[in-house]
Amino acid sequence: MKVIIEKDYERLSKVAANIVKDEIEKKPNLILGLATGSTPEGMYKELIRMHKEEGLDFSQVTTFNLDEYVGIDKDHPNSYHYFMKNIFFDHINIDPNNTFIPDGTAENPEEYCKEYDKLIEDKGGIDLQILGIGENGHIAFNEPDEYLNLNTSIVKLTESTIQANSRFFDSLDQVPKTAITMGIGSIMKAKKIILLANGKKKAKAIRELLKQDKLTTQLPASMLLLHPDVTVIIDEEAYEG
Ligand code: GLP
Repeated sequence: MKVIIEKDYERLSKVAANIVKDEIEKKPNLILGLATGSTPEGMYKELIRMHKEEGLDFSQVTTFNLDEYVGIDKDHPNSYHYFMKNIFFDHINIDPNNTFIPDGTAENPEEYCKEYDKLIEDKGGIDLQILGIGENGHIAFNEPDEYLNLNTSIVKLTESTIQANSRFFDSLDQVPKTAITMGIGSIMKAKKIILLANGKKKAKAIRELLKQDKLTTQLPASMLLLHPDVTVIIDEEAYEG
């Protein structure tokens, strides 16, 4: 696991965007795994700038998002579909037909989860996966528990995640209690992974992860220690706490 500590969020976002840019330039039809949340917003902003000012070309890129709330419509302002469209997709030249986000309203969720993993595989697998990390060490919506799901699944959110994500909703009881998420195995199949974390709130989880001494389902991000190509990019606040 490679660790890069950047001075602040702006630097972290630029370093992450540069890695994405390099990968797209090496392979224009990159299969890119994307994350939502506040953390990657700066990276998306920088990628949009690179597209507009430097001609970074997304026309052949395919994206797969990690997760989505269950029971929230795609055009609901709190859906991850809405987030991705507004924050990123609408501002670059990506073909909307090449952007995939789990469907939290699928009629047959179990079947749908299998199809999502199969679609990723059929497209050739994820080349580069972007990850954030939850305050409790979750990646995507794989929450600390006795076991972790290998494949894309429907999961219950923990109280701490519901609390953390309530900042985007009008009230706590509006936050969905379940989500659809790529599993740890789906994530680990990515050829290259970047995990981003900024701010003091992430310091505890990052401290545990950077010990690099144990795998535990209580810190889902620790599973990344088994992956051969992970880069953790954090700012000083996330590092020092
Ligand atoms: C959310 C998402 C994760 C994200 C994490 C951190 O619940 N499901 O994919 O990485 O929590 O979010 P943020 O970047 O807003 O701190």
